[in-house]
Amino acid sequence: MQGPASHQQDTAPDSGADTEPEATRRDADVTESARANRGWWDRNADEYQVEHGTFLGDDRFVWGPEGLDEVEAELLGPPEDLKGKDVLEIGAGAAQCARWLAAQGARPVALDISHRQLQHALRIGAAFPLVCADAGALPFADGSFDLACSAYGALPFVADPVLVLKEVRRVLRPGGRFVFSVTHPIRWAFPDEPGPEGLSVSASYFDRTPYVEQDENGDAVYVEHHRTIGDRVRDVVAGGFRLVDLVEPEWPAWNTSEWGGWSPLRGNLIPGSAIFVCERD
Ligand SMILES: C[S@@+](CC[C@H](N)C(=O)[O-])C[C@H]1O[C@@H](n2cnc3c(N)ncnc32)[C@H](O)[C@@H]1O
Repeated sequence: MQGPASHQQDTAPDSGADTEPEATRRDADVTESARANRGWWDRNADEYQVEHGTFLGDDRFVWGPEGLDEVEAELLGPPEDLKGKDVLEIGAGAAQCARWLAAQGARPVALDISHRQLQHALRIGAAFPLVCADAGALPFADGSFDLACSAYGALPFVADPVLVLKEVRRVLRPGGRFVFSVTHPIRWAFPDEPGPEGLSVSASYFDRTPYVEQDENGDAVYVEHHRTIGDRVRDVVAGGFRLVDLVEPEWPAWNTSEWGGWSPLRGNLIPGSAIFVCERD
């Protein structure tokens, strides 16, 4: 989970360049976004896992910085029904969610564009297939999976989310469910700060211009794409799914952790994550 500009104050991003990348808003197409994000996650996976690995847990299924756990949310269905199910995790990172799914008796496959993130999946003991690929071109036959899931994986980062949704629909069997979480769109209107400075609107919610960090040559080294809530609903429908729920997790009293711009202060006032529960006929 990152968030618009969240690593600006969260961690110093390693662009691989000698100078700090410049943060800007500009267009970034499918190819440039994928190339930039593959590089960013490969370079920053180690730091990401050090910083967030404890919160995520090695075999928990956490939907976002609020800490909503699939054990309580049951967005993929009751855990006892997961046994024997073929499940695809997209943008899996270190595949903690897939590890939890395997512990329920499911047969997970974890996919990520970053080779280094998947090496962390091996480090923490993933014993199921790990696939390094772009979510926009899934290397699986039609109808390979019963369920698909993604906790902040891929969808906040891709230029063409409908392409990803169509791919996910293609590899799901009829009746399959896809549940994915993303940065809540309202966050784009606010500075990505966990404190009071993050509570005043500073940008238009309606400005879809991507957030881009670029090197001294103008090449993107990190990209996030903004969609409004309405855009996301239309994307789900255009991808061939029915939207059956849209969950906005509330910040729980037990969670005193900050994650970039996500914090108890902000989380008690505005939503930080949006979880889309989709089904295909
Ligand atoms: C915020 S992390 C989420 C990972 C994990 N679910 C977690 O909660 O830590 C986003 C992940 O999406 C992956 N990703 C970004 N763009 C992708 C793409 N186009 N296809 C597949 N994975 C992608 C990144 O490599 C990264 O591991």
